Amino acid sequence: MNISDNLLTLADGNKMPQQGFGVYKITNHQEFSDSIKAAWESGYRLFDTAQMYENEQFLGEALHNLQVPRAKTFITTKISEANQGYNNTIVSLKASLTKLQTDYVDLLLIHWPINTEFFDTWRAFEDLKKEGLTKSIGVSNYGMVHLQYLATQAHELPVVNQIEVSPYMSQKPLLKFHQEHNIVTQAWSPLGRGKILNDPVLVELAQTKKRSVAQVILRWHLQNGVSFIPKSTHATRIAENAAIYDFELSKSEMAIVDSANKNHRVSKEPELVYEFGEQYPY
Ligand code: A2P
Repeated sequence: MNISDNLLTLADGNKMPQQGFGVYKITNHQEFSDSIKAAWESGYRLFDTAQMYENEQFLGEALHNLQVPRAKTFITTKISEANQGYNNTIVSLKASLTKLQTDYVDLLLIHWPINTEFFDTWRAFEDLKKEGLTKSIGVSNYGMVHLQYLATQAHELPVVNQIEVSPYMSQKPLLKFHQEHNIVTQAWSPLGRGKILNDPVLVELAQTKKRSVAQVILRWHLQNGVSFIPKSTHATRIAENAAIYDFELSKSEMAIVDSANKNHRVSKEPELVYEFGEQYPY
């Protein structure tokens, strides 16, 4: 198995690469196209953007310039808080599709749960899927309670919940809940934004395995059955992060990574975003 043929089957029957490329915070035009080219050449097929990242246009352009067949790519975007609500969701997705130079996305996510528009945005998602503007629909940064609340009115349930997961924020109870409800967990900042790469326990394990810490962490995600979307702007790291299909972590090595958990977030608390209705400033 390698990065390109490692696919997960979603609850709606669609296939999604388990490993993807995240483009959060890549806003320099040249750096962006170089990174996408490096990612494509390393075998990444899933590209994850968002309206909030303000780089959908760059992604559309980069894939167009690479002359990559649309059917061979998997594109995800996310509706920002300001664009939630039934009509805004539909209008803003159409604007995103223009920027992405495509007729559909493979996966559309609600970026953060907000208490206003909570059900109306999802109703728009269900209709957008029926119209073929997105193949699959899901959410991001939803807690267990948000998923349970959504289920009280949804006709279709999210097939993916993209949440922060890393060795410092392992979210085991939510991962178990996802599994029980046929929701794929997708980990954003799977490397903890790079801040956990010097963790002594992980460094020691990586040395034993003769791998980089990033590779060990990504392999941990892979074996957990979680989808993950590391970001890097360095071609060597992009390739290194894809080269995790030729080694394995034993049960005890998986437990060592598990033991690093601190329930430590690198970003917002979803419940507070839900209450404020936006990504509150610190
Ligand atoms: P850079 O873009 O300069 O390579 P996450 O995906 O968890 O948000 O982590 C992204 C951060 O981790 C970025 O700062 C990225 O830096 C860094 N990073 C990604 N891959 C590696 C790697 N293989 N080795 C070291 N740092 C990495």
